[in-house]
Amino acid sequence: MTQQQMAAAASPGPCLVLGGKTGMLGQALMTALAKAGHTAVAQGREDVDLTSRDALTAYLEAVKPGVVFNAVAYTQVDKAEDEPDDAARLNKTLPENLARLSAAMGFKLVHFSTDFVFDGKGQEPYEVDDPTGPLSVYGRTKLAGEQAIRSVNPPGWIICRTAWLFGPGRKNFITTILNLCRSRDTVNVVDDQIGSPTYTVDLALHAVQLLDAGASGLFHVVNAGEASWCELATEAVRLTGLPCKISPIPTSGYPTKAARPAWSVLSTAAFTAATGVTPRPWAKALRDYIFKDLQDFLEPQASRN
Ligand SMILES: NC(=O)c1ccc[n+]([C@@H]2O[C@H](COP(=O)([O-])OP(=O)(O)OC[C@H]3O[C@@H](n4cnc5c(N)ncnc54)[C@H](OP(=O)(O)O)[C@@H]3O)[C@@H](O)[C@H]2O)c1
Repeated sequence: MTQQQMAAAASPGPCLVLGGKTGMLGQALMTALAKAGHTAVAQGREDVDLTSRDALTAYLEAVKPGVVFNAVAYTQVDKAEDEPDDAARLNKTLPENLARLSAAMGFKLVHFSTDFVFDGKGQEPYEVDDPTGPLSVYGRTKLAGEQAIRSVNPPGWIICRTAWLFGPGRKNFITTILNLCRSRDTVNVVDDQIGSPTYTVDLALHAVQLLDAGASGLFHVVNAGEASWCELATEAVRLTGLPCKISPIPTSGYPTKAARPAWSVLSTAAFTAATGVTPRPWAKALRDYIFKDLQDFLEPQASRN
């Protein structure tokens, strides 16, 4: 073995973040990995066609990652109802191919899934082994992706189910509401869907903590607490000081193509058991998001309380 080969064998390859250039979570993962001292490579569409197994294999052979974070997904929940094959290609086949390549090439796979794998009829925060029952194409294809990874079972796999993401780098529920509030006095928001709002910056930090703790398996990773979309919007508007009223409406007042779970609060007990870390409440995370990342929306009277 040459000296170079010995060095390559001794030092694990970089962390590769699929979706690291443009994805909301992908960009947060790039920052979190750098902060934790990991070398990270960001992937974007121009680098490889992720729907081609051959292209993916050649790309991974060239990058030689030690870990692959898969933050790529078909995330347009309503559009997925009309494009189930496209959704399945990214949400099921891509993680399945990654799991097979993980087993063959030896990198660790960290994948992300969703609270939409549940039917929303629970009354206690969902634990990782609670029965699933997705209501939409998006939820079904994401669940199929989880199942594919679990059945290939590559060494050290991690799946983080998460929910209701907000964070820098991409349009999300909070930026949509705040933009509407700039031009309207009142915005109607659904108040009978309850979930676990989550800051991508916290999720990325916790995913890296799972990796660094040597954890493996399925975890729920969300900020603490629960909220309706209406409560989340109300708190965002309060923090920015925008003169806009958030008005509660039922789901039936805002029909969407895909059905959503009415109640999908996730328990982070398995995550805390694996890492010793308890995620902070979503309202604290939201305040950081608004005051650190969304300066544009801040009015002089914005409340820091
Ligand atoms: N957002 C949420 O509220 C939420 C809730 C629960 C779970 N999750 C899960 O969390 C993960 C990250 O979600 P996110 O909100 O960060 O997603 P996102 O911001 O929508 O980013 C998706 C990424 O996938 C890439 N992508 C989409 N279609 C592609 C294709 N055909 N080929 C190559 N790349 C493609 C996008 O690239 P382009 O920018 O080039 O399109 C982007 O980088 C996903 O697994 C998602 O299912 C999200």
